[in-house]
Amino acid sequence: MSKSRKTLLSTVAAGLIAGAIALPASALTLGFAQVGAESEWRTANTVSIKEAAKAAGITLKFSDAQQKQENQIKAIRSFIAQKVDVIAFAPVVTTGWDTVLMEAKKAKIPVILTDRSIETKDESLYVTMIGSDFTEEGRKAGKWLLENYKGQGDVNIVELQGTVGSAPAIERKKGFEEVIKAEPRFKITRSQTGDFTRAKGKEVMEAFLKTDKNIQVLFAHNDDMAIGAIQAIEAAGMKPGKDIMIISIDAVKGAFEAMMAGKLNVTVECNPQLGPQLMDIVKEVKAGKQQPKRINTKESIFPMETAAKEFPNRKY
Ligand code: AHR
Repeated sequence: MSKSRKTLLSTVAAGLIAGAIALPASALTLGFAQVGAESEWRTANTVSIKEAAKAAGITLKFSDAQQKQENQIKAIRSFIAQKVDVIAFAPVVTTGWDTVLMEAKKAKIPVILTDRSIETKDESLYVTMIGSDFTEEGRKAGKWLLENYKGQGDVNIVELQGTVGSAPAIERKKGFEEVIKAEPRFKITRSQTGDFTRAKGKEVMEAFLKTDKNIQVLFAHNDDMAIGAIQAIEAAGMKPGKDIMIISIDAVKGAFEAMMAGKLNVTVECNPQLGPQLMDIVKEVKAGKQQPKRINTKESIFPMETAAKEFPNRKY
């Protein structure tokens, strides 16, 4: 090797060691295990992650778990085998992650949780969690109900829960109940999972209405289930948004369309656009920068009256 080439190589090596020459971002590979494609929210979240990875020059290995924990575990194991730099995932449910996350830890691959949290006794199994405060979203929904329900007497509420065992289903329910218990005339009379999908939201609402038409309020853990339920309410000859007040969460475009048609009363925002923030954190984690254990996204609430004005600004 010539002397000048040797000098160049040793300068580059020394620069890398000293951190003076940063590794290009394209050298980073992120394995992302997504929940599925169950809702408008999830689709927007996937788009955000894919676009942000491209913009950040990060190679993305993307896997869709079709709402099954075993598929996410398989995807994480395959990312470990492929020796990706960082693993991120939106856990379908809160429990049952310790074994696979221990495998990632042993392989020295940092793990970032996005959107949904997990339950674990060992917090060292993940670096940070970026996402919404689901309990607060449930509280916002409950507060809005107490402040805006004008009728007298008992208020029978039916609840469409998200995926059983998922953080948003557990926490939104908790936040909502925490607030409405202040006024005992507000009671959840029926509650069942609609798995965050339109089809199941419709199916469960149909079943509710077959056995009981004395329903004043529907609280749906996401907009897709609310939109499915709206179809069921109309098919039962009732007026959604009037005969039954409808409260949901996400604030996707479909919810704004339903509000503009007078069929949905309010939606609490849950922001799916986590991609850019995730890519920044991936880079920082690889650069050894400390992260807070929890990073919350900022969110709002949109009642029906604001829908037409807000709709043109909606990005998802
Ligand atoms: O985890 C976020 C939730 O998952 C969204 O509210 C819902 O629409 C999605 O499927």
